[in-house]
Amino acid sequence: MSHSSTSPLAGPTTSTPALQIRGLGKSFPLGGLFSRASLRALHGVDLTLGRGEIVALVGESGSGKSTLARCVARLEKPSSGAILIDGVDILKRDRFQASRAFRSQLQMVFQDPFGSLNPAHRIEHFLRRSLAIHGKGGSSEQEIQRRLEELMVTVGLQADMLNSYPHELSGGQRQRVAIARALAVEPQIILADEPTSMLDVSVRIGVLNLMRKLRDDQGISMLYITHDLASARYLADRTAVMFAGELVEEGESLDLLANPAHPYTQLLVSAVPDPSRAGSYDPVRRAELRQAVMASTNCAFDGDPNQPCSAEEPVRHQVGDPKNSHWVRCHLYQPWAGADGHALASEPTLATERTHMKASA
Ligand SMILES: Nc1ncnc2c1ncn2[C@@H]1O[C@H](COP(=O)(O)OP(=O)(O)OP(=O)(O)O)[C@@H](O)[C@H]1O
Ligand SMILES: [Mg+2]
Repeated sequence: MSHSSTSPLAGPTTSTPALQIRGLGKSFPLGGLFSRASLRALHGVDLTLGRGEIVALVGESGSGKSTLARCVARLEKPSSGAILIDGVDILKRDRFQASRAFRSQLQMVFQDPFGSLNPAHRIEHFLRRSLAIHGKGGSSEQEIQRRLEELMVTVGLQADMLNSYPHELSGGQRQRVAIARALAVEPQIILADEPTSMLDVSVRIGVLNLMRKLRDDQGISMLYITHDLASARYLADRTAVMFAGELVEEGESLDLLANPAHPYTQLLVSAVPDPSRAGSYDPVRRAELRQAVMASTNCAFDGDPNQPCSAEEPVRHQVGDPKNSHWVRCHLYQPWAGADGHALASEPTLATERTHMKASA
């Protein structure tokens, strides 16, 4: 299919990452008009999305994943930090630049495909509209028609479904339409916020495979937000873990999920059924981890000197082999040298966690 990978706004070198998030912060005001209280939804988030890379963002409900995506999509205004697409800080662009040209670089796919498709219109309407807004369909009706059919085929739908209404499609088919609508714009980046979580398990894999194919065939970079660690391992090159508005660990998906270093990541991983860890599920260990994580609600630096985990902002530690890009930010993490002198990834002991909990009580 015809796909243009050149940016309409910048002339990036191929080494420039598709997306760089630097020191991103977002606070929401709490209370009434005159209240000064605020909720810190994001703090100091640094994340890079390489060209043609899929990065999963995982973390529990309320950890700030959607807020991050909404800031990048300019649906929320960040309180601090920078967001660079093709090396250009989008927060410094004026409104006009930020609108149409920006949307043609970056598209979002949401959790609820039904909510984003007006039931009064046929599928053709949504795709045709996207093409028209971004001037991508071609100059003749014949070209537009060919492009519409091409988009349907790309997302694995039959072209005659263009005449269907959203309610005539299954959830998986509707999500494919939502993806086709995003593709109509020929974006370089797709932010997918839990795109499969409302779908039946049997069709989830099809949507994940479609996302992977789009990356492979068209080089689209994707931020894949999910609660599902198994799908992160399946789809994403790298996985980043968000806890209380901060990234606490990041690495290649296979490595990070096999050797989680942060107690919070360990807790998330311990809940995933994994045949390779059959028999290793330890409910006592899991309960202790949960307690340790819950006790450290101030895991995020908040300047309270009485909280050992918050008196100082944790620094990043390399986990395991320096060749891989696995890092963790946790005061509990202590890399230790093995007998042969190599730095090894250590797992914080529960004794350490208990000390931490007691000290922070
Ligand atoms: N518009 C808003 N006004 C006030 N608080 C908000 C707003 N949007 C998000 N929040 C708060 O910011 C925090 C992060 O929310 P966010 O939706 O980013 O979490 P999430 O990780 O996407 O959760 P989930 O997995 O449930 O989707 C939450 O405490 C939420 O209540
Ligand atoms: Mg969310």
